[in-house]
Amino acid sequence: MPDQRCRVAVLASGRGSNFKAIAGACRDENFPARVICLITDNPAAPALELAADDGIESFTVPVTEKKGRLPEADELKIVDICEKRGVDLIVLAGFMRILKGPLLDRFEGRIMNIHPTLLPSFKGLHGVRQALEYGAKVSGCTVHFVDRTVDGGAIILQAAVPVDDDDDENSLLQKVNKEEHRIYVEAVELFATGRLLQEGRRVRILGNDFSRKG
Ligand code: GAR
Repeated sequence: MPDQRCRVAVLASGRGSNFKAIAGACRDENFPARVICLITDNPAAPALELAADDGIESFTVPVTEKKGRLPEADELKIVDICEKRGVDLIVLAGFMRILKGPLLDRFEGRIMNIHPTLLPSFKGLHGVRQALEYGAKVSGCTVHFVDRTVDGGAIILQAAVPVDDDDDENSLLQKVNKEEHRIYVEAVELFATGRLLQEGRRVRILGNDFSRKG
């Protein structure tokens, strides 16, 4: 029987621990999604090795500019890879590029990102460091839909993490990463089972009856 599960492409620039968590969940055939491919802008990304170990097809999109916004030609290459493989959902997992072009046109409402703070606090690079330097007592992580703003799309899931007095960037990052892996897998599962309904800035989780009680 053909595999009907939601087809996911993961875009990652670095270590790939979120990619690993999602690919690990997808290995279970009862999980409603599967990772079709990994796409990176970084030929040295450790995520590439993880993909190879898992037998997941991977692509390095040649990058014509060093940092920041992905050039339109490269975004088009990613569109092409995803469309040819019938991708349903694009998951950004530490993909350090700004998307503003054709990928958003073609996959609107079907691109997610993870950010290592409780948005809208501490957008942009080094979110964990920003939260620590600001003196936040609670931080966390956010999974959100991607729109044309930077880290500004509608929030899907968040998890809070306490900032302890003796935390440094590394220890806080470890706590945040643990929660990231949990909520990113959950967000993919919710999308894959059609349980996310976006109404303006709010994303309702269908079948979640808690909000109606009381
Ligand atoms: C994650 O902590 C993710 O939240 C962050 O990059 C890390 C990637 O880790 N993303 C951003 O800061 C995006 N603004 P990983 O490669 O181990 O998944």
